[in-house]
Amino acid sequence: MNILSFESSCDETAVAIVKDGREVLASVVFSQIDVHKIYGGVVPEIASRCHIEKISQLTQECIRQSGLSEDQIDAVAVTAAPGLIGALLVGVNFAKGYAYARNLPLIPVHHIRAHVAANYIAHPDLKPPFLAMVVSGGHSHIVLVKDYTDYEILGRTKDDAAGEAFDKGARVLGLPYPGGVQMDKLAKEGNPKAVKFPRVRFKEDPYDFSFSGVKTAIVNYVHNAKQKGEELNFADIAASYSDAITGTLADHFLQCAKDYEQKTLVIAGGVSANSMLRQKLEEGKAKDQTLYLPPLSLCGDNGAMIGAQAFYEFQEGHVADLSLNALSSFSIEKQLC
Ligand code: KG4
Ligand code: ZN
Repeated sequence: MNILSFESSCDETAVAIVKDGREVLASVVFSQIDVHKIYGGVVPEIASRCHIEKISQLTQECIRQSGLSEDQIDAVAVTAAPGLIGALLVGVNFAKGYAYARNLPLIPVHHIRAHVAANYIAHPDLKPPFLAMVVSGGHSHIVLVKDYTDYEILGRTKDDAAGEAFDKGARVLGLPYPGGVQMDKLAKEGNPKAVKFPRVRFKEDPYDFSFSGVKTAIVNYVHNAKQKGEELNFADIAASYSDAITGTLADHFLQCAKDYEQKTLVIAGGVSANSMLRQKLEEGKAKDQTLYLPPLSLCGDNGAMIGAQAFYEFQEGHVADLSLNALSSFSIEKQLC
């Protein structure tokens, strides 16, 4: 089954064709980074406009790269939630139009489920059940993936997402947008024990996260040092800050895996590209646990992950009609249709 898939929930316009949920026949991604860079972050209205400008030509390019004729496309999938509402609507309406014009089933996909599904492409042997940690710009979740379309959230952030904390910290250090990847690079040159940043664990909710405190701490640290005229070692700050965030993520995830006796561990989302997080999990996992990491090319937003998840949603009959709407927030536990 060949699924033409669209992703436009934030600042990447992406189209892919995925066969049977696991094989990517073509995948094209247009990143809007250069457009948003001058503002230091994503401007939602500009993102929507960029999606409109690109989506049609990217679709043609994707079909051309796949070598398929349009008659060989069996279904259309699209990210319907969560994300920037204007940005999502571009993909949803384009997908609806394509499905209607060619009389194809329309499969709505949850963006965070799709991040998890990126691992199905990279790891042919990976099957639920497993424990996943999804860490992106807007989410930090620990989820029990009981089946391809059956999820239970065991931990979540009470305030900011890990990606948001990386981006804010990077901004404070004067690093260009998108900050997470720049922070990762700089952190490699610094000492992670140089600055003590706060790490939060809630007694009653040991798998939940809170990153607002560490965000405030880096702002205050830099501000105070500048006021005193002290020289700042940016690499040390980046390394210490990254250590606090990735240490918290890794500790909570591994604790949850231990408590729930999970042997198969998966990470996903933009922050899963972080080298310190990957290293901590590799080193921290137990001998009888298997850790699946997505390749860097599948950590960020892409269309292939949408096609992968869509295949399994379709098996469960999760097909929408043309009244499908986009939603800016929606639980990973609930079915979109
Ligand atoms: O999953 P994603 O591409 O988009 C969302 O669904 O949000 O995640 C984007 C987030 C951004 O906050 C970005 O700074 C962060 O992932 N990110 C990283 C790294 N690469 C991307 N954070 C830390 N280290 C990285 N190497
Ligand atoms: Zn994402």
